[in-house]
Amino acid sequence: MKESFDLGKIRELFYEAKASCLSRQNAADIHEKGRCNFVTKADTDMQQFIRKRLKMLWPSVQFMGEEQDNSGIDIHGDFWILDPIDGTSNLIHDFHRSCVSLALCIDGAPYAGAIFDLYTEEFFYAERGKGAYANGSPIHVSPIEEAENSLICVGTSPYYKEELGTRNMDDMRKIFFTFEDIRRTGSAALDIAYTAAGRAEAFFERRLQPWDYAAGALITKESGGTAETLSGEPLSFTHAEDVLLGNGAVVKKIRELLLKG
Ligand code: IPD
Ligand code: CA
Ligand code: CA
Repeated sequence: MKESFDLGKIRELFYEAKASCLSRQNAADIHEKGRCNFVTKADTDMQQFIRKRLKMLWPSVQFMGEEQDNSGIDIHGDFWILDPIDGTSNLIHDFHRSCVSLALCIDGAPYAGAIFDLYTEEFFYAERGKGAYANGSPIHVSPIEEAENSLICVGTSPYYKEELGTRNMDDMRKIFFTFEDIRRTGSAALDIAYTAAGRAEAFFERRLQPWDYAAGALITKESGGTAETLSGEPLSFTHAEDVLLGNGAVVKKIRELLLKG
């Protein structure tokens, strides 16, 4: 699989998926999965399109996607992890901040990752050991270490579960009063890509799903950053994690701040 993998084909595939599945009509065809948790026809069409094309290109690789039951996957084999649209609420509101996020997992960790901004068409990607790029130019995490000069992206997932909502707000409050400022855009994968590109110093979100963080974790590592759980464990890439990533110095400060209680 590694030998035949081709990021150019992935980029092409994203452009085609956008052209055939993304429309205001599809974005307005909405189903509620749970409280404040929506899926649109654009999400399901994108997943179906990308899944089908990946199967044609690399038939032996299994597929994990947000909009399906993933219980049958053998995590010891090669598998894709797809979020067909990260930032669905943004899409519904026409708030231009959504992307596709795709990772290829080999030997239990991402071998490649790609994040495609559906509005600007900026394409972030990395292959294990080969560095990270945005539209062909190398990207690096920010060198800034001082808390007062650091922007921190903080997700609030899953905001529809009340017990976590309170903890999210506590985390945000602590981070807000320690660092320069916080950002919360509604697309975890794009926030992570921006952090990998040095546009923010770190990213933190509790209970983030593999399709939200897998591609971005590799892109961050390949851009010189760290990507682990809040407590410093390796990410699983198979289940939800409290994800903390970015430049090592700022990540360390956030870890100390949030773990001291
Ligand atoms: C969500 C977005 C959001 C994050 C949530 C995710 P979706 O993904 O990334 O920023 O806070 O945790 O579930 O539902 O738009 O794919
Ligand atoms: Ca998502
Ligand atoms: Ca999604």
